[in-house]
Amino acid sequence: MNTPQPGILLPLPSHARYLSFDIANRDGIAGCLRALRDLADGENTVVGFGSPLASALNADIPGLKPFPLITAPGLSIESAPEAVWVWLRGDDRGEILHRSRRITRALEPAFALKELWDAFKHDNGRDLSGYEDGTENPKDDEAVAAAIVCDDQPALAGSSFVATQRWAHRFDRFEAMPGDEQDNTVGRRRSDNEELDDAPESAHVKRTAQESFTPEAFVVRRSMPWADGNEGGLMFVAFGHSFAAFEAQLNRMVGNEDGIADALFKFTQPLSGAYFWCPAMQDERLDLTPLGI
Ligand code: HEM
Repeated sequence: MNTPQPGILLPLPSHARYLSFDIANRDGIAGCLRALRDLADGENTVVGFGSPLASALNADIPGLKPFPLITAPGLSIESAPEAVWVWLRGDDRGEILHRSRRITRALEPAFALKELWDAFKHDNGRDLSGYEDGTENPKDDEAVAAAIVCDDQPALAGSSFVATQRWAHRFDRFEAMPGDEQDNTVGRRRSDNEELDDAPESAHVKRTAQESFTPEAFVVRRSMPWADGNEGGLMFVAFGHSFAAFEAQLNRMVGNEDGIADALFKFTQPLSGAYFWCPAMQDERLDLTPLGI
């Protein structure tokens, strides 16, 4: 029976690294993916494949597509059509570095490393703005129902779709806001994480309230802060059984539903976005049969 890559449903690690690759040489793809299969356990190393890879292999993964171009007044979110995404999870940055080198070496004949971002758990699971992130994530069976393709799609059962976006925070802007405005931006109180009853419609948790969509739009968020020098932000990562829930949320965040944009945009911006399909595991190995491998 196929099961999900365990890392998708596990709590966040203390450290992580995100790698993404473009295709460099089509001839070597199948061999490199077999090598990746030998290195990735789905738990400490979670793997996803983008639509350029499925196209290069002539594989049909129903539901996999490029990240949509999302525009709204004053906003355009770049899409990054990437072939392979690897989320390295662990507690030891040195071990992650060495695993990252092994994986890059195994993929390099056919793929070129395009992006590499280190990420970490901050203050027990807070965004760098200081707000707890992940509170309203579905748990246990509900997490599986939200994030994992179920048996009614037998070819993909146990797999998942992930939307990733790197957001860069403008800390000076955030710090210049009075505390009340910061809380209203998120819609929760930073001090005790209580949801604010009287939060404005632009508050992030009002924009994204998962049960307020029709159909309900649940995702499993596994975002982690990133930092580079004095810059930083959030590596937003949301797993779903399709991209529909994420797209509904993002559409409302940018104001395409009612003209009200998410107040988060006052201090943070997405720099990129990408979509990947995360294969299931079979006999403790990535099941690459939907890709014809
Ligand atoms: C820098 C970017 C972002 C930051 C700092 C951020 C932060 C937060 C925080 C602090 C919460 C409240 C606690 C919680 O339930 O987790 C939250 C909730 C949530 N966020 Fe974000 N978020 C970001 C981007 C996004 C994006 C791009 C989406 C989806 C398109 C999203 C979807 C959600 C959802 C679904 C919830 C739970 C809403 C509910 O059902 O109550 N977030 N986020």
